[in-house]
Amino acid sequence: MSRLAYVNGRFVRQTEAAIAVEDRGLQFADGVYEVVYVSGGRFVDEALHLARLKRSLGEIRIAMPMTRAALGRVLHEVVRRNRVSDGLVYMQITRGAARRDHAFPAPGPATLIVTARRMAAYPRDVERWAVAAITRPDERWARCDIKSTGLLANVLAKQAAREAGAAEAILVDPAGQVTEGASTTVWIVDADGRLRTRQLDRAILPGCTRGALVALLTEAGIAFDEGAFTADALRTAREVFLTSATSFVKPVTAVDGRPVGNGGVGLTTRRLFDLFAEHVAGLP
Ligand code: PDD
Repeated sequence: MSRLAYVNGRFVRQTEAAIAVEDRGLQFADGVYEVVYVSGGRFVDEALHLARLKRSLGEIRIAMPMTRAALGRVLHEVVRRNRVSDGLVYMQITRGAARRDHAFPAPGPATLIVTARRMAAYPRDVERWAVAAITRPDERWARCDIKSTGLLANVLAKQAAREAGAAEAILVDPAGQVTEGASTTVWIVDADGRLRTRQLDRAILPGCTRGALVALLTEAGIAFDEGAFTADALRTAREVFLTSATSFVKPVTAVDGRPVGNGGVGLTTRRLFDLFAEHVAGLP
């Protein structure tokens, strides 16, 4: 079955879908995107993703191309038509096509692209989810809170990880502080046993999975700190894990080729993986 995409109001075969060569998404990465995980047909944290999409669009002054409710219907329709039960739905909105000029063109229709694809369901056994990471300098722009399609620095960092036999690049700013992963939020249980993730500011994307986990931690009365931590704290951490729409809670058992803790999945990571799995199972 060929995959179907939604492009500017039409459902088309992905192999035949097209956008204008002067689309500003293509020429300037003048657009934003979202990825929502679909688990057993349920959209995980859909409202958080749509709220962040609206915010990203607002920050770069692109109007929502349709109401949030209408967009939600399109997303569900793309997932339905592609028969995705476990997988992801991807949406991208750009400032549309216009003769190339850096400044905004006269207001015109935005480009909206939605695709969906199947993925293996996340494993019930957290051990099978564990990965290795490397650290890399954070060479991105100063507005990483916007979910921009301009991801070249992230792409290069992720490729460096892959070439090092790792799954993620954990980015470190010039002051030696961890910002986030190339496509994930980073959490640690530090050498003193404190659960930590960086505070939200312009240096990181406000992860929806992070937001959902923060709510779950608060509800469960599990203590955590939101604040910057150094690459040294990462290297001496007892546990490291990542969160993202497609990673859930993903244990990192090696950083830069050295084991984290005893090299196995730690107790906190295990507990939070289970907590998040329960959250997903309980979604409508
Ligand atoms: N990435 N930080 C960055 C730089 C990201 O790209 C992502 C998500 C996250 C986690 O955000 P969330 O929990 O809302 O998925 C953090 C998506 C999955 C991607 O680009 O494919």
